[in-house]
Amino acid sequence: MLDRMKGPTLKSRDEIAIMDRANRIVVEILEMMRDMVKPGATTAQINAMAEEELAKRGAKSPFKGYAPMGLPPYPAVVCTSVNDVIVHGIPNRAKLQEGDILGLDFGSIFQGFVGDAALTVPVGKVGPKADLLMQTTRECLELAVEEMRPGRHLGDIGAAVQEHAESRGFHVIRTFVGHGIGRKMHEEPQVYNFGKRGRGVPLREGMVLAIEPMLCEIGSKLKSRLERVGSNGILQDVKTDADGWTARTVDGTLAAHFENSVAVTANGPLVLGK
Ligand code: MF3
Ligand code: CO
Repeated sequence: MLDRMKGPTLKSRDEIAIMDRANRIVVEILEMMRDMVKPGATTAQINAMAEEELAKRGAKSPFKGYAPMGLPPYPAVVCTSVNDVIVHGIPNRAKLQEGDILGLDFGSIFQGFVGDAALTVPVGKVGPKADLLMQTTRECLELAVEEMRPGRHLGDIGAAVQEHAESRGFHVIRTFVGHGIGRKMHEEPQVYNFGKRGRGVPLREGMVLAIEPMLCEIGSKLKSRLERVGSNGILQDVKTDADGWTARTVDGTLAAHFENSVAVTANGPLVLGK
């Protein structure tokens, strides 16, 4: 099909300006969520606040009701992923505990365009391993963003994430990927968090990608699977709860996730909503 050769849709400057506003809403509300994170708070409270704030800004949620491939519709506006939950945790009434780490993944639809960003935050004071995991995952995102320039390749993004994560002894989750973003939350291409420099489609001005590295600590099950397939092999590195959404590490080890929507411009990477 000719369609398959079209590749990612390129966004105009005006469209990127709207996407910047959609992401500004996401980033602002994520900051408000971050302020609510403390021992004793619940992710249900955080979700309720975020839903109200979206409405105040005339925005909608791309997450709530989202139901890909026969999954039950996602029931909330934010994904709240505690400790060994990698992504897609569902807000609930359990109290956050001192020492937990909490992934907050949030989106908006504003003037027909989708914004999408995520971060992982500590609940009170966390241990040094949790801190290093969060810091390294944030750095992986920053290094990947630096690759968002005309003439680089999709594989440069994955390679930047993988090199940094593995240099610190962490595993890059393979099961989930970043994505093109625009009028739809998930557009072409898929953005792998591992790969080889110079491979994949060349990046062009007007591409907007949601880059979202997910890293975890390596436990014994994951270690033996990695030994079997090698560092670029395909492996099962996620187990999903009965709710169909909550995605956990196979060993119960900690995971972290950071995400930004980023445009390729002639002047270099533009992190939307910042
Ligand atoms: N930010 C995630 C993504 O890029 C969240 C989507 S899952 C949802 O895929 F169910 F919450 F929508
Ligand atoms: Co995303």
